[in-house]
Amino acid sequence: MEQNRQDIHPDVKSIVLSEADIEGIVTRMGAEVTRDYEGKNPLLIAVLRGAVVFMGDLMRHIDCQLGIDFMAVSSYGDGAKSSGVVRIVKDLDTKIEGRDVLIVEDILDSGLTLSYLMKNLSSRNPKSLEVAAFLVKDVAGQNPAVKPRYVGAHVPDEFIVGYGLDFAERYRNLPYIGILKPEIYGK
Ligand code: IMP
Ligand code: MG
Repeated sequence: MEQNRQDIHPDVKSIVLSEADIEGIVTRMGAEVTRDYEGKNPLLIAVLRGAVVFMGDLMRHIDCQLGIDFMAVSSYGDGAKSSGVVRIVKDLDTKIEGRDVLIVEDILDSGLTLSYLMKNLSSRNPKSLEVAAFLVKDVAGQNPAVKPRYVGAHVPDEFIVGYGLDFAERYRNLPYIGILKPEIYGK
């Protein structure tokens, strides 16, 4: 028999945020962004590929004129942890000078990726530069320079999948946020 979409995936240890939880969080974040950017025309920049699902939901909860664009970065280093050495694989198609820019990120872990991106985007002289992070992982040694203006939820220091987040390109299509069983990523 076909598995119910709501059934927990066998590689997932537990669900942290259900589809209903996510809907509530994104609705709240959309309202916050709408309030702060009223009368402006912000450019939402999603970091590929993990933030795509969140971007799609968040933008539909923002009730003001906006634009979207995408960047892809790759961080050198081994699988599960980012090294902080970030390379732009796909750059923006939009000029951001003088624009109100909102970076849309799936998860803030060490903060290395975001601190690199913020430095890079700041140098292009946007009018403002803020971050909306769907998740913030509570880890020791997180870069204190990266403080998202909008935060969806905090998650424990474990490997998170679903709602765009992957392990080795898998699990992005799970409709919930779950914790991957450690034996799957070999810890
Ligand atoms: P940071 O540079 O350590 O903050 O890592 C940020 C990026 O690493 C995120 O945008 C994700 O793509 C990825 N990442 C970090 N933690 C997880 C996780 O638990 N599951 C899936 N991807 C993650
Ligand atoms: Mg990412």
